[in-house]
Amino acid sequence: MDLPDRARIRIDEGTRVLAVTGAGISAESGLATFRGAGGLWEGHRVEDVATPEGFAADPARVWRFYSARRAAALTAEPNAAHRALAALERRIGDRMLLVTQNVDGLHRRAGSERLIEIHGSLFRTRCARCERPPFPDEALHEAKVPACERCAAGGRRAYLRPDIVWFGELLDSGHLRRVEAFAARPPGGRLVFLAVGSSGNVWPVAGFVDLAAAAGAETWLVNLDPAENAWHFDRVVRGPAAETLPRLLGLEV
Ligand code: OAD
Repeated sequence: MDLPDRARIRIDEGTRVLAVTGAGISAESGLATFRGAGGLWEGHRVEDVATPEGFAADPARVWRFYSARRAAALTAEPNAAHRALAALERRIGDRMLLVTQNVDGLHRRAGSERLIEIHGSLFRTRCARCERPPFPDEALHEAKVPACERCAAGGRRAYLRPDIVWFGELLDSGHLRRVEAFAARPPGGRLVFLAVGSSGNVWPVAGFVDLAAAAGAETWLVNLDPAENAWHFDRVVRGPAAETLPRLLGLEV
C-alpha cells in the first residue's frame, strides 16, 4: 500500500497499542537483519550459532558471533523509529506494550520502558548449566570462552553463554502471559497492533498479529519487503521504518 503523506494510525484516549519489532527496525541504525541478502543467516548457519547444540559443539564460535554483534550494537545508535515508539510510550503510558525480538538494546536506549525483550539480550550473560540469574555483560569474549565461577566453586565445569533465546528453547512463559493479557481487550477499548521490521518467520511472535486480531485489534505492518505473514494484517505499509513510522504515528522525533 502506498502511504498517503497524511495517513496516520489513529491513537486516541481509549486506544492501546501492542507493538512488535524485529531486526528491520534497527537496519537504519546500521545493524544487519537476519534473512535476505547480506543478512546474518547468509554468513552463518542458524544451527551453528543460535541453538544449544551449536553452543555445545563449538562455544568459541558462538561467542565470536555474539561478541561481534555486541561490538556492532554498542556502537549503533537508536534511530527515529526507536525514538517514535519511546515517544508514543511517553504519551500513552501503560496503554502501550512493546515486544521486541531484537537483542540489540536500542529500544531501551531510546527510552522505551514498557518493553519485553522476548528473545533475550545481547548484553546479558548466563550460565549454560546452573540457575544463577543472568547478569549484565558488555565484554567481548572473542579469545576465550568464559567459564562460570559459581559452578567452578562447586567443582563443576560449565561455560557462560549469551542470555538469548535460541532455536529449540522456550520463551519466558511470563512474557507470553503478559502479551496475552495486554491483547485481551477491555469492553469499549480500542486496540492497535503494530508490527515493524520483521519478516514474520519466527513463532510464536509471528502469530501475535492473530492473537491481537482475535481480540478485535486494527492491525498494521510497517516493513521494507513483504513479510511472510503480511496477509494477516489489515494495513501493510512498505517503507523504511525510521522514515515511515514517525509519520504514521504523527510523532516528530
Ligand atoms: P528478519 O531478518 O527475518 O527480517 C527483517 C525484516 O525487516 C525483513 O522483512 C526486511 O524486509 C525488513 N526490513 C529491513 N530493513 C528495514 C527497514 N529499514 N525498515 C523496515 N523494515 C526493514 O528479522 P526478524 O523478523 O527480526 O531470532 O527475525 C526474527 C528472529 O529470527 C530474530 O529475532 C532471530 C532470527 O533468527 C533469534 O536469533 C532467536
